Amino acid sequence: MSVDFVILAAGNGSRMKSSTPKFFQTIAGKPVIRYIIDTCKLAGSGSQSSIFVVTRDELKCSENFKDINTVVQKKPLGTANAVEQVFEHLTSEDVVILCGDMPLVEPRHLEDLINAPAENAMIAMTIPDELSQMPYGRVIQKDGRFDKIVEYKNATDDEKKVNLANTGVYKIKTSLLKKYLPLIKKNPAANEFYLTDIFEIMKKDNVEISVIESVDYWPFHGINTMQDLARAEAIMQSKLRQDFMDLGVRLIEPESVHFSHDTKIEHDVVIEPNVFIGNNVKIGRGSRINAFSHIVDCEIMENVEIGPFARIRGNSIFMNGSSIGNFVEVKGSAFGENTKSKHLAYIGDTNIGNKTNIGAGTITCNYDGVKKYRTSIGNEVFVGSNSTLVAPVTIEDGSIIGAGSVITKDVQKGALAISRSPQTQIPDGATKIWKSKGKI
Ligand code: UD1
Ligand code: MG
Repeated sequence: MSVDFVILAAGNGSRMKSSTPKFFQTIAGKPVIRYIIDTCKLAGSGSQSSIFVVTRDELKCSENFKDINTVVQKKPLGTANAVEQVFEHLTSEDVVILCGDMPLVEPRHLEDLINAPAENAMIAMTIPDELSQMPYGRVIQKDGRFDKIVEYKNATDDEKKVNLANTGVYKIKTSLLKKYLPLIKKNPAANEFYLTDIFEIMKKDNVEISVIESVDYWPFHGINTMQDLARAEAIMQSKLRQDFMDLGVRLIEPESVHFSHDTKIEHDVVIEPNVFIGNNVKIGRGSRINAFSHIVDCEIMENVEIGPFARIRGNSIFMNGSSIGNFVEVKGSAFGENTKSKHLAYIGDTNIGNKTNIGAGTITCNYDGVKKYRTSIGNEVFVGSNSTLVAPVTIEDGSIIGAGSVITKDVQKGALAISRSPQTQIPDGATKIWKSKGKI
């Protein structure tokens, strides 16, 4: 069976009150629209299907649409008008139409719809009691048969009490869609053409419309407001936590750990409370992420310890047995095996070999205000506390940097480099000062 997917994403999203279009808002680090595109891809795999996203002109070149077809709706004249823009591209027998603001829908839901015996069908969901005021369109049935969809703002008080809501997911025969959609009249109250009206028109013409009822609400939860977005984020985070615990990851306080959609973690990793893991993070077996760490874009190999209060970003890598401790920030750097930086440091754009120790307070000065430069530190180097390494600079294997040094020149293999002013001592100097101040 051939089916085309039409994802509606040209609305203004004004209820979001954000300058970021609602489809590009992220859930677990992935844009809302990518969830639905990827779901359609999976549901359509194995059949000849095309995916069309209806979008606004200024968004059509987004990276998010790089692998699918975009069609522009010039003005947001409603969901029916949005679908009309795709007409000339529809070649399959059936069309599945979805609102683009439902990131939690899964391929199985679409497969159920595609494989349903009914030619024209919609998925309707039961709204949980606590969300009974959500302004979804209500699916009105008479004698167990579909009657109409009424938008919440146009519904009577009795219709508002119906807890069966329109999910915004439909399957329609392409020929019928093309026949009936032009008959939709502009809704005078909203000044929009509602796609939902097509079903009432079809029904009046004795076309069979089937309602597939889902007792599950959450997969069809629509994102219209920041509250909706936060609810979807919470659902997705909860799912990711469950999945990681299933894989043998120890989350000491699961509710306080944030994951990204692409996080990869092996078993026997321990994650302490209040950890944020952003996009592109891999954590290998036996590693431990201590409390209050913020970790993005890095690969943490096996038996590595991170944090507490660590920050990692910018494509960093930590080889087996390495560790960073409290208040250490690492950006765009590689830590070799068993290399450590345990306290209060900034390591940026730096490659470090194996078994090297970076003392407390070490700073790599990677930026001169114009350009960034790299620091290279070899194997078994000892960088004394409070050292400042001014890049570009190379510190070779086995060398020592004396504490408090400002290193601006390369340090050769096995060398001791110190740059500090010599210490002077004035005998009884302190005693004289204390006396002058009347303290002793
Ligand atoms: C829509 C449905 C409602 C359903 C709910 C489910 C309509 C008229 N209403 O309401 O019955 O319960 O989804 O979440 O369809 N869009 C365009 N062009 C436009 C207008 C909208 O592409 O001119 C897109 C939007 O970007 C969005 C989708 O169509 O992805 C639905 O629009 P939205 O404004 O979110 O409608 P809801 O009020 O959520
Ligand atoms: Mg919506």
